[in-house]
Amino acid sequence: MSRSTVVSGLHQVPGDKSITHRALMLAALAPGRSTVAGALTSLDARSTASVLRQLGAEISPLRPGQQVEIRGHRRLTAPRSTLHCGNSGTTARLVLGILAAHPFAARLSGDASLRRRPMRRVTEPLQRMGASVVAGAGDGLPLTLTGGRLNPLHWTLPVASAQIKSALLLAGAIGGVTVDLIEPALSRDHTERLLAHFGYRLHRRGNLLHLEPAGVIGHFTTRIPGDPSSAIFLVAAAILAKRGEIRISDVGLNPTRTGFLAILARMGATVDATHQGESLGEPYGELVARPAALRGVVVSAEESAGIIDEIPMLAALASRAEGTSRFEGLAELRVKESDRLQLMAQNLNAVGASAEVRGDALEVTGRLGAYHGRVVTLGDHRIAMAFSVLGSQPGSDIRIDDPGCAAVSFPGFAERLAALFQPAGRRS
Ligand code: S3P
Repeated sequence: MSRSTVVSGLHQVPGDKSITHRALMLAALAPGRSTVAGALTSLDARSTASVLRQLGAEISPLRPGQQVEIRGHRRLTAPRSTLHCGNSGTTARLVLGILAAHPFAARLSGDASLRRRPMRRVTEPLQRMGASVVAGAGDGLPLTLTGGRLNPLHWTLPVASAQIKSALLLAGAIGGVTVDLIEPALSRDHTERLLAHFGYRLHRRGNLLHLEPAGVIGHFTTRIPGDPSSAIFLVAAAILAKRGEIRISDVGLNPTRTGFLAILARMGATVDATHQGESLGEPYGELVARPAALRGVVVSAEESAGIIDEIPMLAALASRAEGTSRFEGLAELRVKESDRLQLMAQNLNAVGASAEVRGDALEVTGRLGAYHGRVVTLGDHRIAMAFSVLGSQPGSDIRIDDPGCAAVSFPGFAERLAALFQPAGRRS
């Protein structure tokens, strides 16, 4: 049997990207010394750390296996130069919210991919709160935001986005004003959980979210759970294997992040999730995944906000399922690190699968047999990882133009994927 048809072992994935960004930001705003264990040390997390250092926080280097120590201050200080957010939309958008409550000007920029991504969805409501923004002709970075005293906000989010929601909640929490948001669908709620931990009062009624700025951010010690959006790549490799079973421990099990488990179950793959504990209001536990014969699935637009980062891998899995799958309501995928909707379809077709974009939906028809071809990532980490998993199939020969871009969210991805297929004694 080929090496890559049997999986085994107990594995781990790097810390959750969304929670790492938020923990570093809140620690930078907490007077005293905070300690964050299990933080993601990827390029995106480093972008947040370096921006926060430019704003006056002292943050120890982000190194795998080491805890991060942060010395924060109740208020950030004006940066001396442009804040470079790298490839990270979460860094740019959440920092904009924080800066809106600070009385100084700061210029933000990023890499070519980030400079193309829409920012008005965040700056417009922040301007409504009282911040002033000077931007170029387009909708992206670079831009300069000057914050100060803020007004309360009532705002309807144009799209379900945790980044927009979090920027506005952070502005309200730090600026000391109430925020009322109407969300088209529930997006990940890490910011709400963290702010609630510090005494902020958050009430949700249906799609309406209300923040009372009653809390105080104090220094803290925490451990970040593993990222479910990284775990899905290992889970998918196990599902596509012929035999065996893998376990992944300490994975975040926040229900606003685990929607992919229900989709996988509908596709015929049961992944067991067992609760192990809770850290700063975030549940975590163990995932157990094993090989399964997949069938096509229909994913509705309402479900897409809860699986937005998992769609590349789910769509790649759909190409190995019996029948046609349809993923609806994917307009937001067009403004991720790449136009993921277009790029997934293009790459699936390039390796011999069958995919078509229909409006904002992606249709993928499953096919067995080996895949061959060249994948264009445009530097998008999740595209690189989804096709690496397909490429781990026996007989497949998939060449990825930039496999190293996985380091944006998953340092050491190639080694962790290979480790699934190694007998226990040889695992690194
Ligand atoms: C994130 C929210 C999502 C997600 C991104 C991380 C966050 O983006 O795609 O990877 O940490 O808030 P949107 O809010 O733009 O959907």
